[in-house]
Amino acid sequence: MTPNPSNIAGRLHPRLLITAGPTHEIIDAVRYLGNRSSGRLGIALATEAVSAGWHTTLLLGPISSAVPAPGSDSRLSVVRFLSCSDLQRLLREHAPKADVLVMAAAVADYRPRPNSMLSEGKFRRTNMPLSLELEPTPDLLAEVAANRRPEQMMVGFALEPRAELLASAKAKLERKKIDLVVGNPLETMDSDTIEAVVLGRDGSETRTPGLMTKTAFAPWLLSIIEKRMEHPAAAHLGRAGAA
Ligand code: CTP
Repeated sequence: MTPNPSNIAGRLHPRLLITAGPTHEIIDAVRYLGNRSSGRLGIALATEAVSAGWHTTLLLGPISSAVPAPGSDSRLSVVRFLSCSDLQRLLREHAPKADVLVMAAAVADYRPRPNSMLSEGKFRRTNMPLSLELEPTPDLLAEVAANRRPEQMMVGFALEPRAELLASAKAKLERKKIDLVVGNPLETMDSDTIEAVVLGRDGSETRTPGLMTKTAFAPWLLSIIEKRMEHPAAAHLGRAGAA
C-alpha cells in the first residue's frame, strides 16, 4: 500500500507517536534494572511511517544501535528517555498531539523504591546479603488510553510465552482499553525477526505470514493501522477474519 503522503486515511499530515526501546531504572550512580529490548521494531516503524508521509515522533529509550536521523523535511523527531518516569512525562506532553500511539517500548514493570536506592553515589560491596526493594511502575499505556480523545488510536504490545500469547494479548486489550494489541512471542526481544498476531477490540485477528524481518513488519503493521483509520466503523462489525 502506497498512501498519498499528504493525505493518509483522509487526514492531512496525521501524527504518529511511537515509543521504543527499554527503560533503565536507576539503582545507583552506575547501575540500573533494564531489559534486552533493542528498539529495532519501533525504529523500523518510525522510518517506514516517515516515508509513508506520517509526521512521526519517536520516543526512544537507552539503546546503543544507530538512531534514525531526522530528515531535512523534519517529518521525524526523536526524543530520548531513560526511565519509566521520563517516558511518562514525555507521553503526557506528546500523546495529546498524536492521532495514533504505538507503544512498543519495553517499559519496566518494577523499579527500585525511591527510599531503597542504595546510594546517591556508587554502592560499595560488603560481605552482607543485600535486598533491593521494588515498587510497581505505573501502566503508561493505560494512563494515556484513559485520557485519550475518542478518535485517537492506541496500539500496545504483548510479549508473551507462545502458550499464553492469545489469552494474554486479549486480556491486555481489555485491561488497557486500547484498540489493537500486537502479540508476539518472547523470542522477538532483541531479534531481527518477528512473528505476530494483531488483535483488535472488534475481535479481529490478523497474523503475519510467518516470520518476518522487523523492517518488513513495519509496513505490514502500518497498513493495518491505516485501514483502521479509514474504516473506524469496522471496529464495531465483529470478527474481521484472519490473514
Ligand atoms: N507498558 C506500559 N507501562 C508499563 C508497562 C508496560 O505502558 N509500566 C506497555 C508496553 O509498552 C506494551 C504493553 O504495555 O505496549 C505491554 O504490557 P506488559 O508489559 O506485558 O504489561 P503488563 O500489563 O504489566 O502485563 P503482565 O502482567 O503480563 O506483565
